[in-house]
Amino acid sequence: MLTDLTPQPADKILELMQMFREDTRSQKIDLGVGVYKNAQGVTPVMRAVKAAERRLVEEQTTKSYTSLIGDPAYTAALRDLVLGDSVSADRVAVAGTPGGTGALRQGFELARYGEAGTTVWLSSPTWPNHPTIVQYLGIPMRPYRYFDTESRGVDFDGMLSDLKGAKAGDLVLLHGCCHNPTGANLTPEQWGQVADLLEQTGAVPFVDIAYQGFGDGLDEDAYGVRLLASRMPEMIIAASCSKNFGVYRDRAGLLMAITPDAASHGQAQVTLSFLNRQNYSFPPDHGARVVQMILDDDALRADWKAELEDVRLGMLGLRQQLADELRQRTNSDRFDFIAKHRGMFSRTEITPEQVLALREEHGIYMIGDSRMNVAGLNAETVPLLAAAMVAVGA
Ligand code: LMR
Repeated sequence: MLTDLTPQPADKILELMQMFREDTRSQKIDLGVGVYKNAQGVTPVMRAVKAAERRLVEEQTTKSYTSLIGDPAYTAALRDLVLGDSVSADRVAVAGTPGGTGALRQGFELARYGEAGTTVWLSSPTWPNHPTIVQYLGIPMRPYRYFDTESRGVDFDGMLSDLKGAKAGDLVLLHGCCHNPTGANLTPEQWGQVADLLEQTGAVPFVDIAYQGFGDGLDEDAYGVRLLASRMPEMIIAASCSKNFGVYRDRAGLLMAITPDAASHGQAQVTLSFLNRQNYSFPPDHGARVVQMILDDDALRADWKAELEDVRLGMLGLRQQLADELRQRTNSDRFDFIAKHRGMFSRTEITPEQVLALREEHGIYMIGDSRMNVAGLNAETVPLLAAAMVAVGA
């Protein structure tokens, strides 16, 4: 059996991560995988995370199992961080998951227990792991237009027109903020129009929020998810702490399922517990507990927010610097969109040949679809990237 396994396609992002590691050139720049790096190129452990971990080591008296859906204090704290007071807690079923990907997987599995014939609608483009998980689970999927490759903004007319085709009970996957891979995001007004359309069609929003605090701020980035939560009878949300708490490898995520009323909450909660039990039993606790300790402690929370805000402003500064450099070097405003995008990523729409030339001739790694991770830059490497982009004819 093990000699006859069907080969599976490699994940483009992880493949590039490996190529970068194996590149022996001293001057190389990693704009591939979505991991935040500071000016020294380090993905730091955040101050509040270190402090909470120290406290945890001192104070933890047992590592016995928590509940099947994770520590209730964690699920409540993260639910509130994402949803605020947009929806009554007795309508929100929750399950701790291994990272945001775990939450996505459990959310799609949950949908298989609901309406028969559900189709999942995915933005075109989207994070490559979305379609592969949906396909892996054998759920039908359809793309909706999202990105205008000319303006590098949202093709909102195309999006609305495609989503009119979603049926009641279909799932519409939306990026809560900091769209991956494009960096182009909905305005508050557009979120309102998406909510109107979902109300008309009866399709269910599934919001993936993995970068809260990286775009316009913690509350600003939750605007769309909270608006939908306040209006929709049903909704699924996958939240990740990997980026905004920097606990990537600890795998802290949360799946939330909003039910129409408190009465239907029970069955959703039981189903989420069942799914956790089938797939991995108890979710990991370390990262989740650290996140909960930070959110429930005024001083740690304030320090975490301050550091996250520095990270956010740093990325915005790099975006502006790069847009300015490119404006100057190309004598045009065609890269101004980089300063308008939000989050870690910008899809630049440079050609695959130019992406390859950046890698081979300049040691600059971005994803083949032309997505760059702005957080992989610093003030010194921005001019190098701008010069290289011009050199490859971008
Ligand atoms: C990315 O898009 O690069 C990140 O979300 C990391 C990953 O797992 O792909």
